[in-house]
Amino acid sequence: MSELITLTIDGVEIKAEKGTSILRAALENGIYIPHLCDHQDLTSVGICRVCLVEIEGRRPTVSCMTPVEEGMVVTTSSEELDMTRKVNMELLILHHDYDCQNCAKNSYCKLQELTRYVGIDEERISAMRAPALDFPIDDSNPYYQRDMNKCVLCGICVRTCEEIQGDECIDFAFRGIETRISVLGDKPIIDSTCVTCGECVSRCPVGALVPQKAIEPTYEVETVCPFCGCGCNILVGARGGKLVSSTAVEDSPVSGGSLCVKGRYGLSFVNSPERLTTPLIRRDGELVEASWEEAISLISEKLGQYKGDQFATIASAKCTVEDNYVLQKFTRAVMGTNNIDHCARL
Ligand code: FES
Repeated sequence: MSELITLTIDGVEIKAEKGTSILRAALENGIYIPHLCDHQDLTSVGICRVCLVEIEGRRPTVSCMTPVEEGMVVTTSSEELDMTRKVNMELLILHHDYDCQNCAKNSYCKLQELTRYVGIDEERISAMRAPALDFPIDDSNPYYQRDMNKCVLCGICVRTCEEIQGDECIDFAFRGIETRISVLGDKPIIDSTCVTCGECVSRCPVGALVPQKAIEPTYEVETVCPFCGCGCNILVGARGGKLVSSTAVEDSPVSGGSLCVKGRYGLSFVNSPERLTTPLIRRDGELVEASWEEAISLISEKLGQYKGDQFATIASAKCTVEDNYVLQKFTRAVMGTNNIDHCARL
């Protein structure tokens, strides 16, 4: 059993597991400490310096990198802390493209939330803004877009690529004011080893990484990804009767909150005008539409021409377990063969 540590944050006594950071201990106990570069799924790195706290008897420190200690007395807000945090936030947003109205992340942006929290208003932003960095938008990937003018260098995407996906296709590049997230050779992302899992896009706290088609759904439904046999839990979003988004269910026991390119970006087939809605039968070399009765009669007539090991079934991961059960039963009991396999195993 893990050891529990008792500490006090803002006068409230809490308990946290040994090794937990002050930031995570506070958040788990309903005490908010502003933070930007820390993410529950990733290693803490202490880049943004927004999560500053005071610990009795010590100098102010970043709470995401400091583990809880027995008897620790922590303060999350004071005149000095609030002022330092504000300056740190200003340094982060100095080169950020603040065109919020035209940003896909508008109103979901962590930076907007934090600037409001620390009290940086529009007037202050306009007064301090340095000339905008003019990086070209990288829309080489068909599924997501990179806008380095909006990046705040929190490094969440870099750590996600390395720790969640194991790909390491992006990293910090260049130095000083020129620092940005880039790929080997500073090429478009499509020329990198990116597998388009979209894990970085889903964790980017600002508008630097956004889906190419960012349409906000009016409602979401939890379901299971139809692509392979893993059965990841997804939230599909709909608007105007059309499927417009697919995101991972964070606490999914199957995927741990991750998705691959198919589950995240591959569900547009649902609304495709090319989707087959009736069976097609080849007549005189041409595929023509037919009724289900015609198609099923033709299939049963053709199947009657084979038996035993002349026949084989390839089942599909897109079918339900029950469908696949019926398929193997049909193959063995009706067609008289054990020749059955499954696409997820091939
Ligand atoms: Fe702690 Fe960024 S959240 S330094």
